[in-house]
Amino acid sequence: MSLNRFLLCTGSVLASVLGAHASLNTVPTIPFIEAGGSYSLSHLTDIVVDSRYAESVDHNGETWIPPTLQQFAATFQADIQSVFGLDVPLSHGTKRKANAIFITLTNQTGFHDAAGQWTSEGYALTVDDKGVVVAGASPLGAWWGTRSVIQAAVEGKSTLAKGSGVDAPGWGTRGVMLDAGRHYYPPDFLVEMCSYLSFFKQNTFHVHLSDNIDNNVELYSRERSLHDTYAAFRLWSDDPAVAGLNKRANESYTRDEFDDIQTQCAQRGVTIIPEIEAPGHALVIVQWKPELGLGDLSMLNISHPDTIPTMKTIWKTFLPWFHSKTVHIGADEYNSSLVSDYTYFVNTMNDYIRTESSGKKAMRIWGTFTPKEGCNVSKSVSYQHWDTSADRPYWDYIQNGYNVLNSDDYLYLVGGWSGSFPQVLNQTMIFDDPYGKPYSPPTFDTSLIGDNPPRNNPRTLGHLAALWNDYGPNSTTVLQAYYSWRDSLPALADKQWGGNITATVYSSVFDKLHAAVPGQNLDRSIPSKNKTILHYSFEEENAKTVKDHSGNGYDGTVHGCKIRNGQVHFENGCYVETPLGSKGRDYTLSFYVKPTNNMPGTLFAGPDSTFVNGNGTISNTTLISGGNPYSLNYTLPLNAWTGVNLIGKGTDTIMTVANAGDSSKTMVFNTRIGVNGQGFVWAPIAVEAPLHRIGEGFTGLMKEIILTDGALY
Ligand SMILES: *[C@@H]1O[C@H](CO)[C@@H](O)[C@H](O)[C@H]1NC(C)=O
Ligand SMILES: *[C@@H]1O[C@H](CO)[C@@H](O)[C@H](O)[C@H]1NC(C)=O
Ligand SMILES: *[C@@H]1O[C@H](CO)[C@@H](O)[C@H](O)[C@H]1NC(C)=O
Ligand SMILES: *[C@@H]1O[C@H](CO)[C@@H](O)[C@H](O)[C@H]1NC(C)=O
Ligand SMILES: *[C@@H]1O[C@H](CO)[C@@H](O)[C@H](O)[C@H]1NC(C)=O
Ligand SMILES: *[C@@H]1O[C@H](CO)[C@@H](O)[C@H](O)[C@H]1NC(C)=O
Ligand SMILES: *[C@@H]1O[C@H](CO)[C@@H](O)[C@H](O)[C@H]1NC(C)=O
Ligand SMILES: *[C@@H]1O[C@H](CO)[C@@H](O)[C@H](O)[C@H]1NC(C)=O
Ligand SMILES: *[C@@H]1O[C@H](CO)[C@@H](O)[C@H](O)[C@H]1NC(C)=O
Ligand SMILES: *[C@@H]1O[C@H](CO)[C@@H](O)[C@H](O)[C@H]1NC(C)=O
Ligand SMILES: *[C@@H]1O[C@H](CO)[C@@H](O)[C@H](O)[C@H]1NC(C)=O
Ligand SMILES: *[C@@H]1O[C@H](CO)[C@@H](O)[C@H](O)[C@H]1NC(C)=O
Repeated sequence: MSLNRFLLCTGSVLASVLGAHASLNTVPTIPFIEAGGSYSLSHLTDIVVDSRYAESVDHNGETWIPPTLQQFAATFQADIQSVFGLDVPLSHGTKRKANAIFITLTNQTGFHDAAGQWTSEGYALTVDDKGVVVAGASPLGAWWGTRSVIQAAVEGKSTLAKGSGVDAPGWGTRGVMLDAGRHYYPPDFLVEMCSYLSFFKQNTFHVHLSDNIDNNVELYSRERSLHDTYAAFRLWSDDPAVAGLNKRANESYTRDEFDDIQTQCAQRGVTIIPEIEAPGHALVIVQWKPELGLGDLSMLNISHPDTIPTMKTIWKTFLPWFHSKTVHIGADEYNSSLVSDYTYFVNTMNDYIRTESSGKKAMRIWGTFTPKEGCNVSKSVSYQHWDTSADRPYWDYIQNGYNVLNSDDYLYLVGGWSGSFPQVLNQTMIFDDPYGKPYSPPTFDTSLIGDNPPRNNPRTLGHLAALWNDYGPNSTTVLQAYYSWRDSLPALADKQWGGNITATVYSSVFDKLHAAVPGQNLDRSIPSKNKTILHYSFEEENAKTVKDHSGNGYDGTVHGCKIRNGQVHFENGCYVETPLGSKGRDYTLSFYVKPTNNMPGTLFAGPDSTFVNGNGTISNTTLISGGNPYSLNYTLPLNAWTGVNLIGKGTDTIMTVANAGDSSKTMVFNTRIGVNGQGFVWAPIAVEAPLHRIGEGFTGLMKEIILTDGALY
């Protein structure tokens, strides 16, 4: 279906005909006047980078490591290959040529934000008989233009409607905040998330790098706070100055890793904004230096003579790691009787960070205390508003000359479970806020409309949607963070940009666009000819290779195991290796298993999870993800065949078993989430199917291993 016909179907053709606010239904939408007819990408012979600007970079964005126009174009070329299967060479020239996408820079009056200020993120898009021109206000603007080209071509089945448009974001900071302090996320996950954000023109990934679960002062002993309460600092440095601060080497980012994350994200126009949190949420620092704690040990005693020097040491160590123009020092939820200490802390850190970085970095804090409450921090500090009980950003900050980024808890998410916040972005809240309008960055307050600045106020920096992990690392798996955002974050990205997509149009384009997002496989999907992704029957005696009968050719390699009568004999650490890693929801992994001794072993292992029968202490069937075990009240019977289905179905992970002695059983993997030391709640845990290695360390037999796309349940 061509884009034109698509517009007809959705009814927005009327706007097109009237010409007034014609737009393409990309996400975000872009203003676009159609000229009639279309251009097919199948005619493309070249992507031409304007040689006059090939080495230009955007100096106005948030990153100190901006890619050149040439580098953005090379990423775009790879995306054209991965999304459309088109091999289009990249060349240079100063002019358009026929059947080329010409990538250049320009300046236009339309390159302005909601406040009417010029923005380097604007671009102009032209599609005609000759091909396509993407002309950015800067290389970053051109990059966003390439996202529009890909999206429009995905919707148009490789054709683009002819016409032209000039597009620019209303606000300069668009994206998400992820709490990586109370939950570790591997580097690859952060990079894949950047690819996801970037496709929908979000440019900011704020990563909260230190925090602790609630330090319940009423309940916890000093001992418990200092030794048994989860707190983490995610940067790993060998510098003796911070030795002992980070006790989790395997759940941290080294400088090389953090550099790679920032660089790969920057390649797709996304800046990582790092946050190291103090003087509240700072238990990890007090666990390191207990003398710095206040009565509530998760807070720093600012008047202790070593507190500010300690924070300076931490920032001195890590400031050189960061490539963003803004760094975040947290500074929320501190003791309200200590506002002057707090103000002194923020101002001192601000002076330090600006001096230490030679003025290359500005500082941000969470909204906490207002000037009215006596908090008089430097105007060079920007605020990130999160809760209207802490501040009224328009009156408290904007009117006092501060810039404010909106992260109002209206759109807060908390992983796994929460008494107050949802686990998944709610699309209704994005398309239809309490004022009956689509949500937008100036909506700091969703109950007092007069508390919001006008749309064109230049002090509204933008919006970031926050995902917190209040209940710690075992409340969710890594990929559950992605699923919290997956279906609705692109809709929010439209609103953060200032787009006009409606709920109906969004739901009609989402699946197509989602399937095309380059540079990631967060769904952990596996290409397959039909629903059967992999099928091993082990019919060849003692073969080195296991034939995959699915038709997909995912043959396995046998590492030392005997194969007889359609059964693999696992012993002495032998295993079968597959070319697959993980399969995301929904899936069914079925197999027959017969343990022949009660030693624990790995049934299946993959990059995102492991499936074991016991761990040496318990024999329970257990899934492990991110180092956290999720056990069933079930043990596989010894010396008997059991038919097992491991099923991923939405947010549930289910196991069904059937064997000769037992009637069949269905069980659900749950996590037991600790709630501030006051008890527990049980919540489902969504675990990807582990597929890379089969049977390593397990003793017994397996047969008929089948992986199916979808939940057979
Ligand atoms: C583009 O034009 C605007 C004024 O319309 C100006 O503020 C801006 O500096 C110009 N940018 C470039 C890169 O020439
Ligand atoms: C904070 O540190 C100061 C200076 O060392 C000390 O006098 C004060 O008692 C400390 N406060 C708390 C709550 O420990
Ligand atoms: C805040 O600090 C005051 C003064 O030091 C202290 O009395 C109070 O207990 C503290 N409140 C909390 C919640 O820690
Ligand atoms: C706030 O700080 C500024 C300088 O940073 C100073 O000029 C001003 O007087 C202070 N205001 C108050 C009320 O303390
Ligand atoms: C989404 O938000 C709407 C509007 O606030 C609310 O009525 C609805 O219950 C929410 N949906 C979910 C699944 O929470
Ligand atoms: C959204 O609509 C407004 C008003 O109709 C229009 O000015 C603007 O260009 C549109 N924005 C986008 C990104 O389509
Ligand atoms: C899937 O394809 C394979 C190989 O072509 C075939 O043997 C199998 O029957 C198909 N399965 C289904 C469920 O269609
Ligand atoms: C096995 O798991 C149980 C329950 O999670 C735990 O208490 C025990 O320490 C674990 N044993 C080993 C060896 O990991
Ligand atoms: C990191 O190591 C600790 C201690 O050995 C362990 O508890 C944790 O599960 C490990 N984390 C991961 C992600 O493997
Ligand atoms: C396992 O059984 C215990 C009681 O022995 C029960 O408290 C717990 O909820 C059960 N766990 C699951 C995941 O069903
Ligand atoms: C293991 O299973 C038994 C019941 O078979 C249950 O009592 C126990 O709580 C389970 N252990 C864990 C860690 O879930
Ligand atoms: C999760 O962590 C809490 C501590 O915060 C612990 O009490 C609980 O048992 C853990 N849950 C699982 C499933 O391991």
